Amino acid sequence: MMYDLIIRQGELVTPTGSYRADIGINGEKISTIKDKIEETGKKEIKARGFLVLPGIIDVHTHMEHDGGTHLTVDDFASGSKAAAAGGITTFIDFAQQQNGNSALKTYVERKKAAAEKAYIDFSLHCALMDVDEKIIEEIPRVIEEASPTFKLFMTYRKQGFMVEDDVLLSVMEEVAKHGGLVGVHAENDFIIEHLQAKFASEGKKSPIYHAFSRPNIAEEEAVKRAILFARYTDCSLYIFHLTTKEALAAVREAQQEGIKVLAETNPHYLLLTEELYRQKDGQNYIMSPPLRTAADNAVLWQGIKNDIIKVVSTDHCPFNLEQKKEGKEDFRNVSPGIPGIELLLPLMYSEGVKKGRISKEKLVEILSYNPAQIMGLLSKGNITVGLDADLVIFDPEQEWTVDATKLYMKSDYSPYDNLKINGIPKTTILRGNIIYDQGQIIGKKGQGKFIKRARRCNDG
Ligand code: URP
Ligand code: ZN
Repeated sequence: MMYDLIIRQGELVTPTGSYRADIGINGEKISTIKDKIEETGKKEIKARGFLVLPGIIDVHTHMEHDGGTHLTVDDFASGSKAAAAGGITTFIDFAQQQNGNSALKTYVERKKAAAEKAYIDFSLHCALMDVDEKIIEEIPRVIEEASPTFKLFMTYRKQGFMVEDDVLLSVMEEVAKHGGLVGVHAENDFIIEHLQAKFASEGKKSPIYHAFSRPNIAEEEAVKRAILFARYTDCSLYIFHLTTKEALAAVREAQQEGIKVLAETNPHYLLLTEELYRQKDGQNYIMSPPLRTAADNAVLWQGIKNDIIKVVSTDHCPFNLEQKKEGKEDFRNVSPGIPGIELLLPLMYSEGVKKGRISKEKLVEILSYNPAQIMGLLSKGNITVGLDADLVIFDPEQEWTVDATKLYMKSDYSPYDNLKINGIPKTTILRGNIIYDQGQIIGKKGQGKFIKRARRCNDG
């Protein structure tokens, strides 16, 4: 028998162990894994000396996202190209229901826009921002036909994104009935608005006040409130971009009590600190929640090791230097968000695995396996016969230095510019097709498919 593609003698990294083997691919699926495949392939890749990882899944991106004043600079095409170059084979973005619009209609339109441009597979969370009874009634159909996962903002009241507690509760009640998952951006907006107004009245508007006006307690309070609501409604809860030691402790306690709460963080909350806001280009590091302290970073790494944080995603929300500069004189006017999708895997390998903070098995667990399980992407997330042949051939030795001008992301800077990295994706394979190889995008616009997700998500 002739395989379409054989990957020979790479070190296959899975959540449960790593071993050297050949992978035989037919069509879009992994069809054989064994020590040595005797047959030949129409195409063969020699992977000895390299790691073979399951395709990375980024469950939190904002492409073509209207942040209030600007659209993010990556559209679904450039963002997903950058993702492919970074070893990502699936992303989950958002369909944002606003202004009384139908959630389902919003979802269908956004899905069409993404499908026309995506270089890799994708899905969308349903973000609900303007919720009335009609929207609550739509939830079962959204879960059935579109998305089992929802996002609610507990902040950004002035931008019109925030939902009040009654909405949070009603959405959780309805989602729980139908086996979905509610994700939250958890920050207490009233604490933030109070502190923003106070600092502004004192003339304190430089970027560091972004961090001071969104203190740990704002996240802690919102995370605890969301957990209480999840307990009360028996709804599965997902904390997007958890950043603080206090919130992590709350999640740990809730998990110990058996409450269905899962948490993700992003590389910047593991690697960067609020000290960057004191630099003269401090606005370039503004995102919400803000960067924290080294103590928070350390506790989050520990949270990954201890299985409290199940996922590391990017919150890829890229603006360019010109756009970020608009808020230089007043932190409240900076478009929040930073670029990240292309660097997720290299950063987590270099700073996580190479520096001994996590094992390579843990790396694939938090970047691929858990995201697939939690978000209902059941054909993805591991190197197993029968799953989609989404794979990354990763060179664990190559050293390079981050230079935003050489990346596919459209942002003209990276918060990691000049950082030395160990390890780089060499080849990315999407459903058996090579879509990226040694610097070149080979995949095609629109090649990425919308992936229908399983209705019941995994509670971890
Ligand atoms: O600052 C951020 N994180 N921007 C993206 C929107 C969000 O809050 O997730
Ligand atoms: Zn958010």
